[in-house]
Amino acid sequence: MWLVTGGAGFIGANFVLAARARNAARIVTLDRLTYAGNLKNLEALADDPQHLFVLGDIADRDLVGRLLREHQPRAVVHFAAESHVDRSIHGPHPFMETNVMGTFHLLEAVRQHWQGLSASERVEFRFLHISTDEVYGSLGPKDPPFCETTPYAPNSPYAASKAASDHLVRAYHHTYGLPALVTNCSNNYGPFQFPEKLIPLMILKALKGESLPVYGDGLNVRDWLYVADHCEALGQVLAQGRVGQTYNIGGSNEKTNLEVVHTLCAILDELFPDSPHRPHARLITYVKDRLGHDRRYAMNIEKISRELGWRPRESFESGLAKTVRWYLENPAWVESVQSGEYREWLELHYGSN
Ligand code: NAD
Ligand code: DAU
Repeated sequence: MWLVTGGAGFIGANFVLAARARNAARIVTLDRLTYAGNLKNLEALADDPQHLFVLGDIADRDLVGRLLREHQPRAVVHFAAESHVDRSIHGPHPFMETNVMGTFHLLEAVRQHWQGLSASERVEFRFLHISTDEVYGSLGPKDPPFCETTPYAPNSPYAASKAASDHLVRAYHHTYGLPALVTNCSNNYGPFQFPEKLIPLMILKALKGESLPVYGDGLNVRDWLYVADHCEALGQVLAQGRVGQTYNIGGSNEKTNLEVVHTLCAILDELFPDSPHRPHARLITYVKDRLGHDRRYAMNIEKISRELGWRPRESFESGLAKTVRWYLENPAWVESVQSGEYREWLELHYGSN
């Protein structure tokens, strides 16, 4: 049995759905359903007796303690976070609350529970903390990709809050012996991504013929990974990773933002030859740059490849085509996320959040 935090968000939902599809474990999903969490992401599990959704905050130690006692998970997989860099620049507070203090409270609840287990259960237990490449800062054009020993140099409030959470997890392993692992991953894309992030934002704007806002000169580089590949890597780290270790995960797919947007536009041009918005690339508009915008991220994935045999399966082109298709085939999901209908649904079923 696994306790998954943030399992109603983008990567968490992909992870929970994939894990349930292969019957990897019974899963309890704990999620506060912020604007980024959406129960529709887990709709396919509505009738799955091996999945339980619990509405709640990772900072609620009593709740987490009760879930640990009742369900006796073998692993806690920690996705829950505020995840959007732009939001962290406009309002950093929730990032400190959830990413730093939330992770701290979660760790405390887990530590208390774990210390009460039998010796063999303690050895078997895992705490998997999902983090980001942004903790390493920004690379110059000729720098080698980040590896696990690259010093931390987080630049945005989001990155700093994730770095703090990584350090807490590391300290709980070092001090208390909690069998924790940390993964740091590059930019994900794929189904269920909230359309505030580059790829879904551009797809949905281009379909409507709206301008495509590219920050600065559009030459910032990200290392893109299809979300299913990330989830597969996490499964392998959980099963075979060495406790106390960090594993970098990435797509080995460095692209400038302009390359990403142009590729998306070309896919849409081909799918919609009669669109009045063709060529979609003419919708590209350069806008004011993000404050403190990191120039380049790239991940060295040699460690996870060597130790666990993981490599990404999806190419950038095939992953992007799949992603565009998913957004086209799921207009109800898009509509619910954009209209805030799912927020109303939430209030109706759970009261105000
Ligand atoms: P997301 O914003 O889509 O989902 C976050 C989920 O956490 C939501 O369901 C939200 O409701 C939930 N949540 C937020 N605060 C909570 C709280 N206090 N208690 C319980 N639940 C809470 O994020 P994502 O893109 O799926 O990212 C998941 C994790 O992976 C994050 O930790 C993020 O830092 C990390 N990560 C993301 C990427 C990426 O490209 N998206 C890359 C590397 C690492
Ligand atoms: O690198 C991993 C990180 O990737 C994760 O830890 C974060 O949770 C995730 O949000 C993502 O952060 P980024 O800031 O890289 O992703 P975002 O999609 O917001 O932006 C990708 C790039 O595109 C970045 O250089 C900013 C640029 N951008 C973004 C938006 C939303 C634009 O040019 N225009 C836009 O409108």
